[in-house]
Amino acid sequence: QEEIYKRCVEPLVHTLFDGYNATVFAYGQTGSGKTYTIGGGDITALTEEEYGIIPRALTDMFRIMQETKSKQFTVNVSYIEIYMEELRDLLALDAPSRDLHVREDSKGNTVIVGAREIECESLDEVMSYLESGSAARHTGSTQMNEQSSRSHSIFTVVIGKCSLQLNNTRKGKKSILECKKKNGKFHFVDLAGSERAHKTGNIGDRFKESIYINSGLLSLGNVISALGDVKKKAIHIPYRESKITRLLKDSLGGNAQTLMICCISPAASNFDESLNSLKYANRAKNIKNKPIINRDIQSIRFEEMQTEIKALREELARQKTTMSIYPDMEGVPETRIKELEDKVVRLQTECSHYRMVAEEAYKHITDIQGKDMLSRSQELRLKDWLELLEEIKNQVPITLSRDALQNETIKNLQQELQECKSHLESDETIFADKKREVDHLNETIKTMETTSSQFEWQLQDMTLRCRQQE
Ligand SMILES: Nc1ncnc2c1ncn2[C@@H]1O[C@H](COP(=O)(O)OP(=O)(O)OP(=O)(O)O)[C@@H](O)[C@H]1O
Ligand SMILES: [Mg+2]
Repeated sequence: QEEIYKRCVEPLVHTLFDGYNATVFAYGQTGSGKTYTIGGGDITALTEEEYGIIPRALTDMFRIMQETKSKQFTVNVSYIEIYMEELRDLLALDAPSRDLHVREDSKGNTVIVGAREIECESLDEVMSYLESGSAARHTGSTQMNEQSSRSHSIFTVVIGKCSLQLNNTRKGKKSILECKKKNGKFHFVDLAGSERAHKTGNIGDRFKESIYINSGLLSLGNVISALGDVKKKAIHIPYRESKITRLLKDSLGGNAQTLMICCISPAASNFDESLNSLKYANRAKNIKNKPIINRDIQSIRFEEMQTEIKALREELARQKTTMSIYPDMEGVPETRIKELEDKVVRLQTECSHYRMVAEEAYKHITDIQGKDMLSRSQELRLKDWLELLEEIKNQVPITLSRDALQNETIKNLQQELQECKSHLESDETIFADKKREVDHLNETIKTMETTSSQFEWQLQDMTLRCRQQE
């Protein structure tokens, strides 16, 4: 048991924590050891060494979760069986089977709608659900197996992992906390075994069960054949033929990592069945799955937004570079603008000079033209030149002509003069006001001086009188 687990299953348990789905299923004739290998039987009757895959995988899962302190985990379990083509919830036995449905979600993953999913805190809790579910499973005694599984069972563990990550901000600081959520789903499938009626000796209900078991396994065989036949690339895969194939759809040729364990009997009397099982297993080897990491919608949106932000940042950086190339855009240093303005003025002046020179030449040439001094070809060339000049004159703005420039200067000077005049006028008014004020003050001073001298005289007079009286 340990070797099988270590070699085949342990690696899948590790990938589960990276967000991949995994499936392990056991295939083979009745009594060949499927339930024993998967570990979905009566665990209480076994020693730890005899433990099958499920208890070992669960132990590892909880050990990994305990060791990974930086992350938060959730564990959910469900356990269902397909008995006589009907779904049954082994963790909610009262739930009517009509409430359980196999559906495909938007991403094409197979989901069992209505199955009870129980959130578990500890290994003991999960083990107790495994035990109670396994005990509730349909089993029966046949001539081939005392405790023969009469149903296909699927024990599912969903591990939700939330990793908190420090994100790098633009300034190189680590600040944003993000929660990347990944769910990994592990299906442990214990199929019922193929049966030959004459070997099992089944009659009545056991026989009816055999028919359903064999037809389900036949569909599974067809799916494996269609997927695994390298010669015929089958377009149609008959997943819908039975419940078990519908349930295992994403495990067979889908996006899960799948391990098929082929159980065979060592007895020579079972040679035919063993060979048959091995042929299917050989075909199944050709099935190519495409495992993908699961993420919840929020995580996907978060990552989409991050990509968008990254793209926007890149666009911004690109625009900044463009701005430094094209000077008419924002963000150009002022010195560069000044430099370009000076250049424009210089070019305008140059242009107006050329225009003046050309106009002078134009006058002289039209004079010459009228005096019949030129040959026919010279006349024609001159005509061309005059036309060209006329054309250029029309293209170059009139404001660049000498007169226009002079007029502009005169206009500017006149405006300046006008402004100075108005300043002067207001200054004159102020001066006049101040002068009036000063005159008025002088008048007041004079009056006060007169009054003061009068008081002085009076005082002197009074002083004299006082002395005389003494
Ligand atoms: N490797 C093994 N070592 C010891 N005992 C085993 C081994 N494999 C199977 N057995 C025993 O063989 C019996 C039949 O095994 P099991 O019930 O697992 O078969 P099965 O393939 O599930 O059959 P079915 O299809 O009828 O359910 C059980 O008693 C089991 O303990
Ligand atoms: Mg079994």
